[in-house]
Amino acid sequence: MLARQITKAVIPAAGLGTRFLPATKASPKEMLPLVDKPLIQYVVEEAVSAGITHIIIITGRGKRAIEDHFDISFELEESLKQKGKEALGQDLRKISEMADFCYVRQSEARGLGHAILCAKNLIGDEPFAVLLGDDIIDHQTSALQQMAEIYERNQAPLIGVQRVPASDVHHYGILDSESALDGLYKINGMVEKPSLKEAPSDLAVIGRYILIPEIFELLEKTVPGKGNEIQLTDALKELAKIRNMYGYVIQGNRYDAGDKLGFLKATVRMGLKNKDLGEEFKTYLKSLSL
Ligand code: G1P
Repeated sequence: MLARQITKAVIPAAGLGTRFLPATKASPKEMLPLVDKPLIQYVVEEAVSAGITHIIIITGRGKRAIEDHFDISFELEESLKQKGKEALGQDLRKISEMADFCYVRQSEARGLGHAILCAKNLIGDEPFAVLLGDDIIDHQTSALQQMAEIYERNQAPLIGVQRVPASDVHHYGILDSESALDGLYKINGMVEKPSLKEAPSDLAVIGRYILIPEIFELLEKTVPGKGNEIQLTDALKELAKIRNMYGYVIQGNRYDAGDKLGFLKATVRMGLKNKDLGEEFKTYLKSLSL
């Protein structure tokens, strides 16, 4: 394959957010705010930091707020201007100018693999990134930036992983792999949410992938797997049989923001890092006699 930079990213956002009910009954989980930005904005900013210019968001019923968030809000900007808050209006404008956004609707919830397949025509013949919005990863060099640098050197599909405790392997796609050069793991196989007994390792897929268009042909042939859904992991397992594919241990603290406790932890982390609120928030946390 030609050496190419990745410019397109797919962000699946059609999930029902059942782990976060009732908060997600009428609003998308991707719009839950971590301090002052919705979750999906963190993920979009991460993609942009890695050089992505085209963002394809896979949406579904009830996800209109996501499109509105990344669109220009002319009335809001005008009204802020009239109130002398032009700078705030300009900040809002920057959100819609971060990248080119387009949306594909996944009409049936048939799994992550099916959601990615919905982007096939928009991706065309290029390598692309996939970022799952539940995974918020905090590091100076963003997770996708770390991976994009490796991809540019290696030109092989790459999956972001982290080690997880044995008790958690059943929540993740797990790698069957061997150590390779540069701290990478060559992937021989993958299992979606295995039991501890079936898990080939403790290297868990952490919602960041750099993939090649061949994955679409494999997804088209993938039959429903775990949870009766078309699993991306199952198609990736097939890709590993025909292409060199690697796992990369992402540097950074990762939060499962789709889970209530993970979301709270991410909120504390981002609150402490916030330049306007951080100091005061820290003082408050210290004052709690826990
Ligand atoms: C998805 C993937 C799984 C991966 C996980 C990371 O599962 O299917 O392989 O480990 O994301 O967050 P989900 O958590 O969406 O069920």
